Amino acid sequence: MLGSVLPFSPELADKVSEYCENHSEALPEALNKHWEWTIRTWMDAEMMSSKLQGQWMIWMSQWIAPKRASVTLTVANLVLEVGTFTGFSALAWYEGTRATKAEIITLDVRGEVLNFTRKMFAELGVDDRIKVIEGPAASTLEQVDGQFDIIFLDADKHNYQLYMNTILERRLLSPHGVVFVDNVFARGLTMGNEFNPYIEKIRRPFWEANGETLRKLNKSFLEDPRIDTLILPLFDGVTQIKWKTGYLEPGADETSKQ
Ligand SMILES: C[S@@+](CC[C@H](N)C(=O)[O-])C[C@H]1O[C@@H](n2cnc3c(N)ncnc32)[C@H](O)[C@@H]1O
Repeated sequence: MLGSVLPFSPELADKVSEYCENHSEALPEALNKHWEWTIRTWMDAEMMSSKLQGQWMIWMSQWIAPKRASVTLTVANLVLEVGTFTGFSALAWYEGTRATKAEIITLDVRGEVLNFTRKMFAELGVDDRIKVIEGPAASTLEQVDGQFDIIFLDADKHNYQLYMNTILERRLLSPHGVVFVDNVFARGLTMGNEFNPYIEKIRRPFWEANGETLRKLNKSFLEDPRIDTLILPLFDGVTQIKWKTGYLEPGADETSKQ
């Protein structure tokens, strides 16, 4: 088996997810409860990250955060997220940065969901470090300042190219930071519309349009001279992006001046 993805049936994929969840550092109870609440409460809860993806976020942010602390002695502005929804992923970033107490900025356009999200953040006492900015990310990203070690793109796929351009042009990604771009497989349809017969009929046009967008986007990221791109078969496909080695001028690292 030389391929990078095992040929799982849906049943085996569920089993494997469950196995990974149960054999990884457990999600804190508050996140578990919040995930279950979202599933029960919101019709479109399928847009929330999976529990295992939450475990992955906690692990990654615990791993990345100390590196920045040791390099710069500052932990401000660690995580930027585009796509808050009910706040599950923001809670995971919060959990993973407890030691460094980093600020987490999360952007979303849906006021009716954010009303619940903000209330829940206040109840859980996490609004000391999570800042929610409401509005279309194309404009709110222009208002965000700082350099982020983790940037998570998990919103409207057809704007990902715009978001990446803003992030790179405004140097929002720290010199040693990483952008995680979520759902780059579009449920498998990035590879072609003939794949994945399991998508609900009503959701298929949405994912077919996303598949087409992501095919172009993945190619464009790969050809972008500013960045190094790695697509991984994690969850619904995650692209990891960092600055291309040597792209940033010496001294362009604002954090080293702090
Ligand atoms: C996949 S969900 C985010 C899920 C969340 N990160 C999680 O793991 O629970 C995508 C979110 O992007 C938001 N969104 C869509 N278009 C947007 C836009 N133009 N600007 C900001 N947010 C947008 C939606 O309102 C939705 O809440």
